[in-house]
Amino acid sequence: MNNCGTTPIGTHVLKRLSLYWEGYSRKGIFSEVESFAVTKSAILRILSKLLDVKESELALIHNTSEGMNFLSRGVDLKSGDEILLLEDEYPSNVYPWEHWKSKGVSIEFLASGQTPEECLSNFQSKISSKTKLVSLSAVHWCTGLPLPIREISEICKEKGIFFFLDGAQGVGQIPIHLSEIHADGMAFPAWKWLLGPLGLGVLYIRESSLQKIHPIFKGTDSVRDSINYFPYRDEWKDGTSRFEFSTPSFQDWVYFRASLEYLEEIGFSNVRNRIHELVDDLRSRLEDLGMNCFPGQGVRSGILVAGKQGYSSTQIVGFLKENGIITADRLGGVRFSPHIYNSSFQMELIHKKLKSLLK
Ligand SMILES: Cc1ncc(COP(=O)(O)O)c(C=O)c1O
Repeated sequence: MNNCGTTPIGTHVLKRLSLYWEGYSRKGIFSEVESFAVTKSAILRILSKLLDVKESELALIHNTSEGMNFLSRGVDLKSGDEILLLEDEYPSNVYPWEHWKSKGVSIEFLASGQTPEECLSNFQSKISSKTKLVSLSAVHWCTGLPLPIREISEICKEKGIFFFLDGAQGVGQIPIHLSEIHADGMAFPAWKWLLGPLGLGVLYIRESSLQKIHPIFKGTDSVRDSINYFPYRDEWKDGTSRFEFSTPSFQDWVYFRASLEYLEEIGFSNVRNRIHELVDDLRSRLEDLGMNCFPGQGVRSGILVAGKQGYSSTQIVGFLKENGIITADRLGGVRFSPHIYNSSFQMELIHKKLKSLLK
């Protein structure tokens, strides 16, 4: 029940990886089982469809922090400017921005509030003429609240403010169509709602923003026609892939391709609906035990946070763990995040176990 933390490997992926390793043991990179070009294009095809972006706007990196560092180190800001981040944000979308403080750029924090509407109103009162960059999560990692990112992106676009997204808790569990949300860039990990491998992440940079975000690293793969090593050259690759500066961890691509193809076969909207169905099922069971649940019923999120007066979140999380149920203790709440491999039977089991604790 902690899939917004990390997810287990499915048997479909295990099979694909075994085939890949078998092929690699025989022929190394000349194996026909998976090739760099085919595997990468399969991943980019699925992600570009899911996010409604061009394949050339995506790059495969390692994690969100890396992506946020690319964005943060790549933009031009000046002393006196202000960056707006999310209150109680995951460190991946805070630490990469901190270097700006020594350059005279201040960092402010937006309170997400209780509802997307309240968040938007907080945002409107928080921005000023000094705000030049906003970087927010699509869904709050501690509370599960989806942020009004489309509305915020429109305000940022109108005012010429950079808008970046940490997609970790959003991509795969809520619809994020970047043709409708005007984000200059987004970074997210593979291993949460997309059931992919640890240590693989994705960077999106909007085509029209690419010239405003300068790559800080230059490596073998940063340049056009990179497989021809000589003569050395200065021309960056055309798209966001210029940020993939050298040899990737290819087995992670194989893993990610298998998990994405599995989700695509089920249908991403079916996946989202099933996650939300499990959350609704769990919410009604927890409410039956007198627990308070967040976000409220009308808000669709794969993250549900619960609590009960008289019981600490640490106590409940510890009790569930002793009973083989993994949840997370976040900001004083018990965070549940089911995925499609979970079942209603398991929600029933959580109810049964908690009933014995919450007398
Ligand atoms: C909002 C958010 N961003 C990012 C991450 C992961 O960060 P990274 O990819 O740098 O490990 C998490 C993990 O829990 C998260 O909740």
